[in-house]
Amino acid sequence: MDVFEAINTTRAMRRLKPDPVDDELIWKVLEAAIRAPSGGNLQPWSFMVIRDAETKRKIGEWYLEAWNATYGRIKDTVTADAQGTRMYSSADHLAQHLAEVPVFIIGVVRTGGAGTSSSGSYIFPAIQNLMLAARGLGLGTTLTTLHRAHEADVKELLGVPEGWETACLIPMGWPKGKFGMGARRPVEEVTHWEKWGETKSRDGKAGS
Ligand SMILES: Cc1cc2nc3c(=O)[nH]c(=O)nc-3n(C[C@H](O)[C@H](O)[C@H](O)COP(=O)(O)O)c2cc1C
Repeated sequence: MDVFEAINTTRAMRRLKPDPVDDELIWKVLEAAIRAPSGGNLQPWSFMVIRDAETKRKIGEWYLEAWNATYGRIKDTVTADAQGTRMYSSADHLAQHLAEVPVFIIGVVRTGGAGTSSSGSYIFPAIQNLMLAARGLGLGTTLTTLHRAHEADVKELLGVPEGWETACLIPMGWPKGKFGMGARRPVEEVTHWEKWGETKSRDGKAGS
C-alpha cells in the first residue's frame, strides 16, 4: 500500500471482530514500531501483547469504569453535532466491548533516567508506526489511554516493574467497518508561514 494511502486512511477503528490475529502479523506491526525515532535513540519502550481472556476482561472492566466516569458524564456536550455523536457512539462501543478485541498491545515507557521526562514523546512515534503498519495489513487499531485511570492496578496485573509506565493501550483486530479518512482541520488553517497568523491557500494566495 502507498504510504500516503496508509496515512490518510488510518483512523480510530473501534468496532473490531473477535477473530484471532496471527502471531506473524503481530511481529510485523511490532517490527514497524521499533523503527521509530526516539531522543538520543534511547528506545525506552516496551510493548506488551495481551491475548489472555481473563487479563483482557479485567482491563476491560477498568477501562469501562474510566469511560463512564469521564465521557459518560459529558455525553450531551460531546454529542452536540453529528461528528461528535459518531465518535461518542464508536468510543462507547469500544468501552462496552473492549475485552472481545483479540489483541491488546500496551505501549510501556521507561520513566526514570536521562531523556525520559517527556515520556509520551518517546513512545508515540513508535505507536503511530505500529498503527500505520496495522493499517497496511488491514488490521484496525485505536490509540487509547483510559486504562491509565487504573495505572497501578494494570501494572500489578501485568507485572510491569517500577520505573516503567503504560502510555497507551492499542486494541487491534479485524475491522467490522471500512477504513476511511478521519475529519481533520485543513492544512491551510493550521499552518503559519514564516510568522504566526500568516496563512495562505494552496494556490499561494494570502489567507485572512
Ligand atoms: C493521546 C490520545 C489518547 C486517546 N485516548 C482514547 C481513548 O482512551 N479511547 C478512545 O476510544 N480513543 C482515544 N483516542 C482516539 C481519538 O479519539 C481519535 O484519535 C480521534 O477522535 C480521531 O479519530 P479518527 O482518526 O477516527 O478521526 C486517543 C487518541 C490520542 C492521540
